[in-house]
Amino acid sequence: MSEPLVMGIETSCDETGVGIVRGTDLLADEVASSVEEQARYGGVVPEVASRAHLEAMVPTVQRALDEAGVTLHDLDGIAVTAGPGLAGALMVGVGAAKAYSLATGVPLYGVNHLSAHIAVDTLENGPIPEPSIGLLVSGGHSTIMMVEDLAGEVSQLGASIDDAAGEAFDKVARLLGLPFPGGPYIDKAAREGDRAFVEFPRGLTAAKDMERHRYDFSFSGLKTAVARWIEAQRAEGKDIPVNDVAAAFQEAVCDVLSRKAILAAKEQGVETLLLGGGVAANSRLRSMAVERAERAGLTLRFPKPKLCTDNGAMVAALGSHLVAAKAEPSAMNFPADSSMDVTVVSLADKLD
Ligand code: KG4
Ligand code: ZN
Repeated sequence: MSEPLVMGIETSCDETGVGIVRGTDLLADEVASSVEEQARYGGVVPEVASRAHLEAMVPTVQRALDEAGVTLHDLDGIAVTAGPGLAGALMVGVGAAKAYSLATGVPLYGVNHLSAHIAVDTLENGPIPEPSIGLLVSGGHSTIMMVEDLAGEVSQLGASIDDAAGEAFDKVARLLGLPFPGGPYIDKAAREGDRAFVEFPRGLTAAKDMERHRYDFSFSGLKTAVARWIEAQRAEGKDIPVNDVAAAFQEAVCDVLSRKAILAAKEQGVETLLLGGGVAANSRLRSMAVERAERAGLTLRFPKPKLCTDNGAMVAALGSHLVAAKAEPSAMNFPADSSMDVTVVSLADKLD
């Protein structure tokens, strides 16, 4: 077989993403988002997301096929996010992928959203050296992963013990009166702000925490510190300098994320660090990681911002990697698994 042609379907949260890749070439990346409907509620309402996926699913697949200039019958594989994510939202993508697979006989791969966030980097920077360390930072996860084999073996070195990094961005944005989802708005506001305006706490970096939680993160204390600071200002009748608070908060998050990821790579003797997930689109995280990785003598890789946030191309990229590695397709009866474990890259061929 020449390079595998794979379609990826992503519906774990509020974007209906359909991507098509051949090998590591991106042929189509169509995303329909319900974020504008969600913004009214200041967060993602699961039922609204599921309904929007149902409406967008078939037209988005059609647009991606047209864009790539291929038909369903040309495909060598269909990959779909099986988890983690919102149960009802995942079910729409999983149901659609099963229907397309059954109707065409194209093998089906139920894959992990988090591994897909790592795999997407292959579309821009080519095959991922194994092992690599992955810093996966999204709305639901902040994880340091050891990627031994992207077609099979990944393990977790550390993770957030409370809020995910993206969640902290979204909550602090709300405190600052910025729209949802807050990450991109904080990123933008911070460009005009003073990073050293306030020294917000760096969670789990004290010596005793580094013993027990060396590669773990904690962002809820930081969020509370920002909330308290804002309250104290308001109590004194002062205005909130949004750009400065955004910059100082962002600095605290990016400092801990990049510091611990680089420490993990160095201590584990791994030369490549990969950034993935929505927060990896953050301009300060990227620039700080570039500087620190260079100083540590590590190779740093990350995809362009559009491929960091949820999309179908990342699922297709992981699917293509699995087909090329001759991984077994998934059994047709696999479930959508809202709490799928980070170490499971794709679902097995047989279910008990
Ligand atoms: O990976 P993703 O699109 O969805 C999940 O799998 O959760 O990540 C979404 C998260 C949101 O919390 C959003 O605010 C954050 O990524 N995000 C950012 C930026 N762009 C998206 N956070 C900081 N800076 C950004 N530029
Ligand atoms: Zn994601």
